Amino acid sequence: MKKTDIKIVDIKKSFDGVDVLKNINLEIKDGEFFSILGPSGCGKTTLLRMIAGFISPDSGSIYLGDKDIVNLAPNKRNVNTIFQKYALFPHLTVYENVAFPLRLKKMDEATIDLEVKKFIDLVDLKDHIYKKPNQLSGGQQQRVSIARALINKPGVLLLDEPLSALDAKLRQNLLIELDNIHDEVGITFIFITHDQQEALSISDRIAVMNNGEVLQVGTPAEVYEAPADSFVADFIGENNFFNGQISEIFDNTYAKLKTEKLGELVFELDKPAKVGDRVQVSIRPEKIRVSKHVPTGLTEKYNVLKVYVDELIYSGFQSKYFVWINGDKNLLFKAFKQHAVYFDEDDNDTIHWDEDAYISWHADDSFLVEVI
Ligand SMILES: Nc1ncnc2c1ncn2[C@@H]1O[C@H](COP(=O)(O)OP(=O)(O)OP(=O)(O)O)[C@@H](O)[C@H]1O
Ligand SMILES: [Mg+2]
Repeated sequence: MKKTDIKIVDIKKSFDGVDVLKNINLEIKDGEFFSILGPSGCGKTTLLRMIAGFISPDSGSIYLGDKDIVNLAPNKRNVNTIFQKYALFPHLTVYENVAFPLRLKKMDEATIDLEVKKFIDLVDLKDHIYKKPNQLSGGQQQRVSIARALINKPGVLLLDEPLSALDAKLRQNLLIELDNIHDEVGITFIFITHDQQEALSISDRIAVMNNGEVLQVGTPAEVYEAPADSFVADFIGENNFFNGQISEIFDNTYAKLKTEKLGELVFELDKPAKVGDRVQVSIRPEKIRVSKHVPTGLTEKYNVLKVYVDELIYSGFQSKYFVWINGDKNLLFKAFKQHAVYFDEDDNDTIHWDEDAYISWHADDSFLVEVI
């Protein structure tokens, strides 16, 4: 085990009789960009503050390398935290804010100067070095926090929604910068967010949490393409769900699904299930093709449904279709459609709302969510 590998073992915590963390187990590797993703109130901050040492667990261990750090004071842990709010000293310049941790350590002036300039450079604030926090934008202030947290050279950096106070564009930019900084310093980042796009775009691996539990740990592609259960499938990205009973398994990895209202559908059997099981299956909106006529040349591994277009939302790079099957409002599917001349000609016939159309998708693009 490396010195800064983190291992969280059977961590439990309750507040006022409510279980906020229920038996959390996680392993975070040295140098990883690891995100903890989950809805508000699921226990993310509690877990992070526990790693930082501000909250003690009711039971369980947290290993940093081979050492259980549960009883160590925060400043003895070789971890540093960046919070949602910048928490800078308002009366100090950028330079002095970043220098602060080194002054506490009573380093000599020449070393401090060298280090401070290096880290201010790293977060790209050279031109703002003698400004005070109130003369900086939100993004710049957060970059000061990052420099100040890194200057202590922690083995692990904990980031609790550091971008959430910023507007969308700035968030994007700072996210890319954060990724570059991570590459440059090479230490472990544990990044908390409730924004799935943020987590997907930046992480080596993601832990998806809900209700004090970790539901899945995996790479962005794994949690998106093969979600462990319906919560993950629904929380990350958008999805269409349908239930039915497996009536046949063919070619080893495909199954036919007998549904009550959608007829027979085929899907890829990517989790263990057998004929007769009742299952939930899903197809993501971007994997559905919307066309005016029945598409030609489809094999038995495609699903085709006739639909009624109830609503369509144009958003520039794509249109989002809300369609009903068999005129039944409860059988709502969402489908995204991109526009480009080089796509199938039929696809380019404009499909309006209050018209009939067809949706189709390949079995490989849908997946079994869970056996129910
Ligand atoms: N000190 C405390 N005393 C009592 N309850 C607490 C305390 N700290 C947190 N909680 C509760 O624990 C639950 C988890 O809180 P936590 O702050 O970890 O959530 P979170 O996932 O970080 O949410 P958010 O995305 O909104 O920041 C919440 O229901 C919260 O009310
Ligand atoms: Mg929080």
